[in-house]
Amino acid sequence: MKNHSMPTPIFFVLCLFFLLYNLKIATSTPRYIPVDNITLNCGSSVNLKDMQERHWVGDMLSSKFALLPNHRSNISEAQGFSSVDAVPYQTARLSYSEFTYVFPVTPGPNFVRLYFYSASYSGFDMSKDLFTVKAGLFTLLGNFSASIFTDSLDQKNFFKEFCVNVEMNQELNLTFIPFPSTSFNYYAFINGIEIVSMPIDLYYSQKGFIKDEWVPQYVAQAPQFYINYSMALEMVYRLNVGGGLIPPMEDTGMFREWSEDTKLLSGGAIPRDPSLQLKYSKIPNYTAPDPIYQSAITMGPNRAKNKQSNLTWGLPVDTGFNYLVRLHFCELESEIIATGDREFTIYIDYQLAEDKADVISWTGSNDTPHYKDYVVMIQNKGEDTHLLSIDLQPITSEGTLIDAILNGVEVFKLSNPDGNLAARLNMVLPQPNQKTEPAAIKSKKKKTIFIAVGSGVGFLIVLILVCFMAVWKLRRTKHYSFYKGKIRRTKASSLPEELCHHFTLDEMKTATNNFHEELIIGVGGFGNVYKGAIDKGTKTVAIKRMNPESHQGAREFRTEIEMLSQLRHVHLVSLIGYCNDGNEMIIVYDYMTNGTLRDHLYNTNNEPLTWKQRLKICIGAARGLHYLHTGAEHPIIHRDVKTTNILLDEKLVSKISDFGLSKMGFENTAVSTTVKGTWGYLDPDYAIRQQLTEKSDVYSFGVVMFEVLCARKVLNHNLEEEQQILASWARKCIERGTINQIIDRCLEGKISPECFKLYVEVAENCVRDKGIQRPNMNFVLEKLELALELQENVDAPQDNIDRQSSTVSEESSTTSQHTYYSEVISLHVETTTSAPCYYSA
Ligand SMILES: *[C@@H]1O[C@H](CO)[C@@H](O)[C@H](O)[C@H]1NC(C)=O
Ligand SMILES: *[C@@H]1O[C@H](CO)[C@@H](O)[C@H](O)[C@H]1NC(C)=O
Ligand SMILES: *[C@@H]1O[C@H](CO)[C@@H](O)[C@H](O)[C@H]1NC(C)=O
Ligand SMILES: *[C@@H]1O[C@H](CO)[C@@H](O)[C@H](O)[C@H]1NC(C)=O
Ligand SMILES: *[C@@H]1O[C@H](CO)[C@@H](O)[C@H](O)[C@H]1NC(C)=O
Ligand SMILES: *[C@@H]1O[C@H](CO)[C@@H](O)[C@H](O)[C@H]1NC(C)=O
Ligand SMILES: *[C@@H]1O[C@H](CO)[C@@H](O)[C@H](O)[C@H]1NC(C)=O
Repeated sequence: MKNHSMPTPIFFVLCLFFLLYNLKIATSTPRYIPVDNITLNCGSSVNLKDMQERHWVGDMLSSKFALLPNHRSNISEAQGFSSVDAVPYQTARLSYSEFTYVFPVTPGPNFVRLYFYSASYSGFDMSKDLFTVKAGLFTLLGNFSASIFTDSLDQKNFFKEFCVNVEMNQELNLTFIPFPSTSFNYYAFINGIEIVSMPIDLYYSQKGFIKDEWVPQYVAQAPQFYINYSMALEMVYRLNVGGGLIPPMEDTGMFREWSEDTKLLSGGAIPRDPSLQLKYSKIPNYTAPDPIYQSAITMGPNRAKNKQSNLTWGLPVDTGFNYLVRLHFCELESEIIATGDREFTIYIDYQLAEDKADVISWTGSNDTPHYKDYVVMIQNKGEDTHLLSIDLQPITSEGTLIDAILNGVEVFKLSNPDGNLAARLNMVLPQPNQKTEPAAIKSKKKKTIFIAVGSGVGFLIVLILVCFMAVWKLRRTKHYSFYKGKIRRTKASSLPEELCHHFTLDEMKTATNNFHEELIIGVGGFGNVYKGAIDKGTKTVAIKRMNPESHQGAREFRTEIEMLSQLRHVHLVSLIGYCNDGNEMIIVYDYMTNGTLRDHLYNTNNEPLTWKQRLKICIGAARGLHYLHTGAEHPIIHRDVKTTNILLDEKLVSKISDFGLSKMGFENTAVSTTVKGTWGYLDPDYAIRQQLTEKSDVYSFGVVMFEVLCARKVLNHNLEEEQQILASWARKCIERGTINQIIDRCLEGKISPECFKLYVEVAENCVRDKGIQRPNMNFVLEKLELALELQENVDAPQDNIDRQSSTVSEESSTTSQHTYYSEVISLHVETTTSAPCYYSA
């Protein structure tokens, strides 16, 4: 910058502003100066700076490129633009027909970054963007829609980064092609284009340009895999493991953004030393910015724990591509100095990538950055997305540290032999006379992953991993439609009055003594549950009053009423009516005298349930779930099966409640949804793949079975780490043959061995990792009935203990006069001590 020609005070103020804005920008000098360094603000007629003080040239001004055909595309400003960086996102170039930017760049590999802001632009409807982007012969984005992509994001702006080589005597052509359709007018658009040249040996391993040791290893295929110039790369992850976001201006000169690592699935320790002087003796100093190597994730000092665990990252990727996985390493713990001090095995996608990784043996010393490249093939086995895992498994040997380390991860998708980087798009073309949009447009999918993993090294961490992805899938309109869509349609019509009573707000006020505090029997995120009396005070009911502010609540309110009004079953809580006067969202249910199942298991003054009572309660709940899964035309997935959603009537007959999260699925079809549910009960397979099936309920039910057996919280952070999550702890105990040691003290000596064996086996089957490995509810139900039989055979001679608890049967009355409804927030704090045992046989 030629700032020295400015008057000193202004220069000073500018400098101060600059420094305050971001100290590190001023201090880091780029280690790589790109030959080409183009930032184009599309649709703009002025030159502007972005929030990081980077210059963007308006594409109507620049002479650095040609726009073809130059008369046909429109420019526009995003309507209702807000809250994101104005440059380059506020303006765009849009067109209903193809247009091309031609950049005369220096031959060699380049970063191409495309910036998009999904919004309505004048003359262009937000939802009608659908286009392909090509760079020469490479397809960078195929039938892509920014509006669908951002549907699953918190923000409307995003960028995509690619690596593309430009041959000698050629330009870099970026062509934007709207989806050709006779029935609909789709358009293509772009807000910003960035082209930055890169070192020839940074990611490419063109034969003859790179030393043999730097050629990536093709995991489980061949010793080497050359990434040559006939491939284009798409950056899918670039993570600062153990550290935070590193913005483009703080990269080594290539303006790469390094994200915070949110993909670690297991817990770990974070060694970090921001003042560490790094020795770039093994790799070029532009490979990654220093902070990547100054922090890491390790397993921590617990040898016993480390022996049996991995450091695991889970990265959702499209299937059907090769991926370049670059792992960055730097030994920064001063006590680790010799070869053999920290040895571990690296698995990528469950395949051996490195049998003995040892950073010191690679680098010769501490504080020396290094990286290793692997190429892994992710085949399409019927799923469009796959969780690419990186597992670091410590090598267990006497005297050495049992640990692993990782400093950074980069993952690139490699183009297919036809130069295509676009995920296989299964979209249905609009039929000639069809008035609606193609299915791909409708099947907008929100993909969010929440995985909670408790962990700790002297302290406890709960990592909540959130990842957003949007993927299109085949939905043949003829055969499939989404329940989501169905709900939308019913929204227009009124609720089914014939199936449940519509109460007025006055009636509700009378029933609850104007929502009197003393009548509150349950509190949750949704609002309160009151005990009330209707029919002139003759009938006791539970009245759930949802918080009117909650947008989420409105949808769940609707779902619950629609589901429950169509479902009647002795093991489902009965809906009596609802009220939606004004802003109110109130649901009226049968009152369940005995409250929640949880209330009879632990942290309670209720008498402990006998084993047979527990079995019968489980059988009832299993019947309810089985009915949900198979009783209606389409399976209904409850999504929030837990002991606080299993209610007990005066005869301890169990009933499933709370259908707010339920989804209607389709036979043999997984439904993609935002992952919801309750920690500890949440199916990990669903959390990872976002594919909702009945097997997710089966998982939660398995957790309920263990909770019933062990009478403890399903998630208890006060316990030792391996015991915190009941499902995984129970599985460990089964493996070790110690499951009988963790059961409810009140049950000791009360369960027949055959019954116990069968029960544990079924519960274990239910909580298997993969949905496909789990049984269906019918199987669970049959086995539970058999378990009860086995128990009764043993008990028969002296069976008089649980006389009062009537048999659970379909004949039980659906509408009992005295019922009770209550709900407890799932994660509320409870003490660890188990309930006192009142019961003795
Ligand atoms: C990139 O180009 C801008 C001008 O457009 C210049 O100010 C900046 O210093 C360049 N950056 C590098 C790393 O060459
Ligand atoms: C430019 O926008 C107008 C409407 O504002 C539209 O009719 C025209 O087709 C657009 N041109 C292109 C090339 O997309
Ligand atoms: C880029 O476009 C120009 C103009 O259409 C064409 O002459 C040139 O061959 C194209 N280059 C590449 C690499 O496709
Ligand atoms: C876009 O979709 C059309 C129609 O399904 C298909 O023919 C075309 O190959 C797709 N383009 C890309 C780049 O995937
Ligand atoms: C680049 O690599 C691919 C796959 O490894 C190979 O098929 C192709 O021949 C290579 N191209 C060149 C120009 O080396
Ligand atoms: C990076 O390495 C190059 C060549 O090894 C050297 O010339 C340059 O001074 C180094 N830059 C920094 C900032 O260390
Ligand atoms: C560690 O990862 C490997 C490879 O993915 C896997 O086989 C092994 O079961 C994992 N170990 C643990 C304890 O998760």
